[in-house]
Amino acid sequence: MKQPVFVANWKMNHGPSEAEKFVSRFLSKYKAHTDRTVVIVPPAASLSTVVSALGRRKDIMVGVQNIHTEAKGAFTGETSAEMARDAGAKLALVGHSERRHVFGETDEATAIKCARAFENGLTPLLCVGETIQQRDRGEAESVVLRQLRAGMANLKDSQPRGIVVAYEPVWAIGTGRTATPADADAMHEAIRAELTKMIGVKKDATKIPILYGGSVTAENVRSLLEVGHVDGVLVGGASIDPNKWNAICST
Ligand code: PGA
Repeated sequence: MKQPVFVANWKMNHGPSEAEKFVSRFLSKYKAHTDRTVVIVPPAASLSTVVSALGRRKDIMVGVQNIHTEAKGAFTGETSAEMARDAGAKLALVGHSERRHVFGETDEATAIKCARAFENGLTPLLCVGETIQQRDRGEAESVVLRQLRAGMANLKDSQPRGIVVAYEPVWAIGTGRTATPADADAMHEAIRAELTKMIGVKKDATKIPILYGGSVTAENVRSLLEVGHVDGVLVGGASIDPNKWNAICST
């Protein structure tokens, strides 16, 4: 059994003052566990605040919600991988469905971003997932595996082994409609098989954490983690409340 990974995606919630309050409330309850990985992904404006509020708590990592494809330059409003790393991020979400569907992020952009993340010492957390229309047409697996291959297309040498993947069906995000543990398990198994094909060494592909995301709550997290191919969770709505997040991470 791998160490479960718990990632809080705050989306556009918690500016620096609220972020500071969140961390202090969360830390007052959450005791360090050595058998799990906990990551908080605040909006870029609160990255440094969360890093300093965590202080010496090395058991909790910080991530960035998005990085730009380019290293620097005239890209008003954007955050580079290098800046995120400098602010203390260790991980970068890439290809979140809101980036793909609200901001038009393409598979090509996710490939560049995954490579940029590695170049700058960040672990890319590549998000993949089908829409309800794609699922209804029976295309869920082909869409997800295409996004996976495309996002990893620019990686070289040992980089593919260092990635983290999140399966987030678009129809489950923020809707209160979670995939059943069996559905999540089946898709995770297909992702794992594809990773094994891409990497060539089953042992190395097995080490890549595959997280589930989409309406995860303190109530359903255990049933998702219990299925064989789910290695952790990526949580949006339920992660912005310190008590709920504590309940999830303490599962
Ligand atoms: P949700 O979001 O938990 O609110 O469904 C998950 C995500 O978008 O990462």
